[in-house]
Amino acid sequence: MKTKITEMFGIEHPIIQGGMHFVGFAEMAAAVSNAGGLGIITGLTQGTPDNLAKEIRRCQDMTDKPFGVNLTFLPVLSQPDYPGFVRVIIESGVKAVETAGNNPQKWLPALKDAGIKVIHKCTSVRHSLKAESIGCDAVSVDGFECGGHPGEDDVPNFILLPRAAEELKIPFVASGGMADGRSLVAAMALGAEGMNMGTRFMATKEAPIHENVKQALVAASELDTRLVMRPLRNTERVLTNPAVERLLEKEKALGANIKFEDIIAEVAGVYPKIMKDGAMDAGAWSCGMVAGLIHDIPTVKELIDRIMAEANAIISKRLAGVL
Ligand SMILES: Cc1cc2nc3c(=O)[nH]c(=O)nc-3n(C[C@H](O)[C@H](O)[C@H](O)COP(=O)(O)O)c2cc1C
Repeated sequence: MKTKITEMFGIEHPIIQGGMHFVGFAEMAAAVSNAGGLGIITGLTQGTPDNLAKEIRRCQDMTDKPFGVNLTFLPVLSQPDYPGFVRVIIESGVKAVETAGNNPQKWLPALKDAGIKVIHKCTSVRHSLKAESIGCDAVSVDGFECGGHPGEDDVPNFILLPRAAEELKIPFVASGGMADGRSLVAAMALGAEGMNMGTRFMATKEAPIHENVKQALVAASELDTRLVMRPLRNTERVLTNPAVERLLEKEKALGANIKFEDIIAEVAGVYPKIMKDGAMDAGAWSCGMVAGLIHDIPTVKELIDRIMAEANAIISKRLAGVL
């Protein structure tokens, strides 16, 4: 399948693996890129620019296909070493960056001068237009269904994607709720040039996370995610567990007076405990409603090949057949 996104990133299939904290290590990114998609290393998980440089080198040892790095711009006071991360990305020769969170404008000139394609992930048409206006090459349009931070507008992809198509000139991929060939064809019908998946890629053999997490995704249904931190305007979609339900009780009890400190036990430092140790009740971790569509743990290549075969069959048989 050839789309503006496969052309832009030099990949075979229009499938991107979104950055995922404590999931997007070299093993994950290389598996996706080797299978013909665009794998993404999650920059901030590495902690320091030096560690990111090492992780990029590890990934380069595992694949000769293009892969990218995610840079998430957090709204926190003590900022990570973003200048260092950007320098390392440029020096390493990586040619794709997925930005997310705050406006990436400050970093675009350096990235673009280095010939790096920047895809900004955002959750609204207005932020997508902003990304276009500051010179991003593409957008990942992340609907309300998505795992992680869906923003505060709550517009699902059946509305958000065609709205993005009405307004944007740069290409975009559909993100949030994408799982299979049906998702890909639907996304393209709504105007996208491909799709970005997070949660689905966690339930694969190569995902470098604890088996408990993969089994939790297979066991979960589409009813099992919750939105936390809405009162803090930092909404996150997570898989429910006792810690998440406790967090929601606190939100109910404290109302508008809630502060980040009140929920620190349920959200701070949770990712290594979940992803590395498999301590599934340790706190809140991002997970999309798409968990309801995850029924197995294939290799990344099996998953991507299956998606492409299913998409081809839908387009050439089922849809062509109704004409
Ligand atoms: C466990 C997990 C961690 C994530 N961490 C990040 C992150 O650090 N930065 C980021 O930009 N997006 C992050 N995301 C969002 C994904 O990149 C992607 O946009 C999202 O998962 C798409 O929705 P889906 O899960 O329905 O496929 C995370 C998602 C998950 C499931």
